[in-house]
Amino acid sequence: MNKIFAKDIKEGLSQFPKQIPSKYFYDERGSSLFSEIMKQPEYYLTNAELEIFQLKSKEIIEQLKVRKDTPFELIELGAGDGYKTIEFLKVLEKEQYQYDYIPIDISQKALDQIKSTVANQLPETTIYPKKGDYFEILHDLKKSSHPKVLFFLGSNIGNMKDELANTFLKRLAENLSKGDQLLLGVDLMKSKSIIYPAYNDSKGITSAFNLNLLERINREFDANFDLLKFKHCPEYDEELGIAKSAIQSMDKQSVEIKALDFIVHFEAGEMVYTEISRKYSNSILDKICSGTEWEIKGKLTDHRGYFADYILEI
Ligand code: AVI
Repeated sequence: MNKIFAKDIKEGLSQFPKQIPSKYFYDERGSSLFSEIMKQPEYYLTNAELEIFQLKSKEIIEQLKVRKDTPFELIELGAGDGYKTIEFLKVLEKEQYQYDYIPIDISQKALDQIKSTVANQLPETTIYPKKGDYFEILHDLKKSSHPKVLFFLGSNIGNMKDELANTFLKRLAENLSKGDQLLLGVDLMKSKSIIYPAYNDSKGITSAFNLNLLERINREFDANFDLLKFKHCPEYDEELGIAKSAIQSMDKQSVEIKALDFIVHFEAGEMVYTEISRKYSNSILDKICSGTEWEIKGKLTDHRGYFADYILEI
């Protein structure tokens, strides 16, 4: 049994309001549902960031202080299949920059896939995939004297509350050296009419992704969540720029989680919060960077201004 998951479920479902941390979305089924989400027309984030890499990689390179005569390390946190980054590497390789690509992920499957894509498409690129904790790996890599460019894409930072995002940036800086840079991909604040459907797609993939958390608890902890009695319930607060995913209990009901010897009671209409997806503006990013060593140096957006890749430096 995953003891930390067990503890988080027990604690989260005993709180008011109830919550389950979003990191538990990503078991095998959850990861494959997330890949499907990224293909949905309503989920504009992935294509908007891909467009930035397809059209503006040269501009990114100019704004990052990398030089052709100085080898550097490009380290990607949570690389996944590296699909967007490959577009950027193609330009780096063509322009004959000297770099090592170091994708970090918790999924060995994702790292194997990215390794074979790089071998097939980027013959000049050396790749050193690393599996494990971002900070431990960065701490090890600090020994190398090469300048570092970190990639943290896909608005993954948006799944952290502001305070946590601030601590995360501080910890990244602690494991880097003066002059190192970060390319930070974030989804920008915009109207509810665009953001809400991105988290409530018409095919119901995001709903299945959210409800998979309950199915996962059923599978791993012998629980009896009846999926027909819960529904995906996204919210978006346009003023705060925060999208929240929640699961709503449609009835007053009790659920038994046998392996945890735990019974959870739900009121009709009660919410279980499962994720926040923060949307950014310049001033929000300033706030997240305050008290850290990071300085914002540049910003590139897609043609609609939906998504931004910011360049930060310590
Ligand atoms: C991984 N992360 C940036 C996604 C997001 O947009 O917050 C996760 C997601 N949740 C629902 N749809 C996608």
